[in-house]
Order: sequence, then C-alpha cells, then structure tokens
Amino acid sequence: MKSRQTSLVTGAAGFIGSHLCERLLEQGHQVVGVDAFTDYYPRPLKEANLAALRHRPGFRFVEADLTRADLAELVAEADFLLHQAGQPGVRPSWGSDFDRYVARNILATQRLLEAVRRSKRLRRLVFASSSSVYGQARELPLREESLPQPFSPYGVTKLAAEHLCRLYHQNFGVPVVALRYFTVYGPRQRPDMGFHRFIQAALTERPIPVYGDGEQTRDFTYVADTVEANLLALSAPVTGGLFNIGGGSRVSVNEILRTLEGVLGRAIRRETHPEQPGDVRHTWADTTRARDLLGFTPRVSLRAGLEQQVAWLRRPESGQPG
Ligand code: NAD
Ligand code: UGA
Repeated sequence: MKSRQTSLVTGAAGFIGSHLCERLLEQGHQVVGVDAFTDYYPRPLKEANLAALRHRPGFRFVEADLTRADLAELVAEADFLLHQAGQPGVRPSWGSDFDRYVARNILATQRLLEAVRRSKRLRRLVFASSSSVYGQARELPLREESLPQPFSPYGVTKLAAEHLCRLYHQNFGVPVVALRYFTVYGPRQRPDMGFHRFIQAALTERPIPVYGDGEQTRDFTYVADTVEANLLALSAPVTGGLFNIGGGSRVSVNEILRTLEGVLGRAIRRETHPEQPGDVRHTWADTTRARDLLGFTPRVSLRAGLEQQVAWLRRPESGQPG
C-alpha cells in the first residue's frame, strides 16, 4: 500500500498553523506539527488552538524551537514543509524586541532551508510571507513585481526570509513557494490583531481602540482562504515563485467597525489612538498571479468571516472572556 504523504507544519500551535494542520489531516496527510510556544501571547491560547488536533489519528506534535533544535531528523520524513512559524506583529517590531524578529523570522528560516537543502524527499516548502514586505504602497493594487520596501522592522525580516527562500531555490533547487498573506482574520486570530481587539472590546462593552483616523485600508483575508492557498501551493506546477494571497476586498477600519455593528446589532464606541509607527496606510492584493498559477480564489466574504470570528470569541473554549 502507498504510504501517506507527510506534511511538517511549523508554527502548528499558532493561529494559521493550527487551521492548516486540521485541513491537511482532512486531506489525508500525516501531519507533524512543531511549535516552541513563544511567549508573544499566552501559551494557554496556543494549547487551545491545538486541543482539537492533539488526539487526532495521523497527527504528531513536537515541541521544539527552530532556532536551536536539531532539524535534520524533523525534516527527514517530510514530503511537504509548511513553514508558518515566525514572530508576527508589525507594531511591536521596534526597539529591543527586534532580536526576536531576527531569530524567529530570519535565522529559523535559514536553519530550515539548510536542513532541507539535500533532501531527496521534500516536494514543496511553502513559506508564510507577508504583505508587510511591500511597505507604503506607491500604486494599488500591490503586484508581486512591485519593489518591496518594508515600512516596519517586521517587514524587513519577512523580506529577508523570502530572499533566503529564493536563493536556496536558485542555488540548491529547494522547491520553495512564498505566499504573501494579507492581514488574516477568523477564529483563533492572535489577540494582538485588529479584529480580535475590536470584537473583544465590543463584547465587553469597552471602547474600540482605533489607530489614526480609521481610514487606513487592508485586504483582509479569511483564514480558511489562506489555508486553501497553502494546499494549492503544494501541488501547483511552479516553484521559486511569490504569490499575493488576499481576501478580495479592500476595506477601511471604519467600514469594519460599521460591519461589526451590523453583526452585533448595536452601536459600538470608538476611541482614537495615535497612528502607529510601522503601520502602512493601505494594502490591496492583486491576486491575478495566484489565480492563474495556483487556481486560488478567495471564497469567504468579510461579513461571513466576521460572523465566524464573533461566534468563536463568544465561546468559552476560545480561552477569551467574552
Ligand atoms: P502565530 O503567532 O499565531 O503563530 C506562529 C507560531 O509560531 C506561534 O505559535 C509560535 O509559538 C511559533 N513559533 C515562533 N517562533 C518559533 C520558533 N523559533 N520555533 C518554533 N515555533 C515558533 O501567528 P500567525 O498569525 O498564525 O502567523 C503565522 C505566520 O504567518 C507567521 O510567519 C506570520 O509572520 C505570517 N503572517 C501572518 C499574517 C496574519 O495576518 N496573521 C499575515 C502575514 C503573514
Ligand atoms: C497583520 C499581521 O499582524 C501581521 O503579522 C502581518 O504580517 C500583516 O497583517 C500582513 O498582512 O502582512 P496588520 O495589517 O497590522 O498586520 O493587522 P491588524 O493588527 O489586524 O490591523 C489591521 C488594521 O487595524 C491596521 O490598520 C491597524 O492600524 C488597525 N488597528 C489594529 C487599530 O486601529 N486598532 C487596533 O487595536 C488594532
């Protein structure tokens, strides 16, 4: 009997990684999830992300830090490597925490690339890159050909990791695909992110913190669409490429809050905070390349996705006091 394909998912206890593991299991993969439980947000939230996975047949969890662990054994059995681990967050990437961004985004990626460089088995490495590599948009929508000029230290580290992926592809033929995710949302979203903070504040009747005038826009992307892009990247007949993965609609923070009022059926209070260093004014993904080469189309509307995230934050198992 043909053995099942093994996928190694880094960052498996995180927001996107945990959804990805579930979807790969559904697709019949054997999944090895690895995570270090970094302290960027509390471990119990990450344990909650993993809870449904821990006992599923076909899933194995390894607690390990990619910046230190011996990765040779971990990658030896992988047909696919979906590298989601990293230090996310645009606004906290200034100051003394930058060393975490360098270690978790650049060094961890370089160590993985070294570990897979001679693998005869690996068929695809998907790297979770970011719209943050673009920086302040000079023209919209953002296309992969645009010159990346990050506006935050976080974006610099994601761009450096993307370059490492490209050069291991060019020098050693590592079969890499980089996906530039645009502001992902949905159940299990990290507690530092916008939607999570907005919904949490609204549910606990606190004012919503809005940075600047709220007219900044993002191409918000539902997590299931992001996960689907990863699956498509595993079988697409291309390597060495970069792809924008966006949700298909560019929306301002103010419009998000109006939609949230519609979902909750009541008014919510806003509180203006200063614009944040590193926050770009607009993002908007041109996803033509992902559509043409990966067959990617975002499917979940903003309203439907927001309803899912509200429903999740209302549940006690989200680990959040709703
Ligand atoms: P997350 O913080 O929820 O998940 C990342 C996981 O990686 C965490 O559980 C963390 O413990 C783990 N990790 C970090 N460093 C590690 C290391 N050295 N060894 C092992 N595990 C480590 O973040 P997320 O929002 O799910 O983001 C996943 C990836 O997607 C990140 O690389 C992020 O930069 C990228 N990304 C996210 C978004 C978004 O909107 N969420 C957008 C663009 C790109
Ligand atoms: C998100 C992720 O956090 C990054 O890890 C990721 O790399 C990036 O997307 C990306 O697309 O590359 P960001 O767009 O800042 O970064 O996502 P949110 O934290 O959800 O913020 C969305 C918008 O809401 C921003 O304009 C932000 O200024 C605003 N916001 C956020 C507020 O007004 N108030 C808040 O309390 C939080």
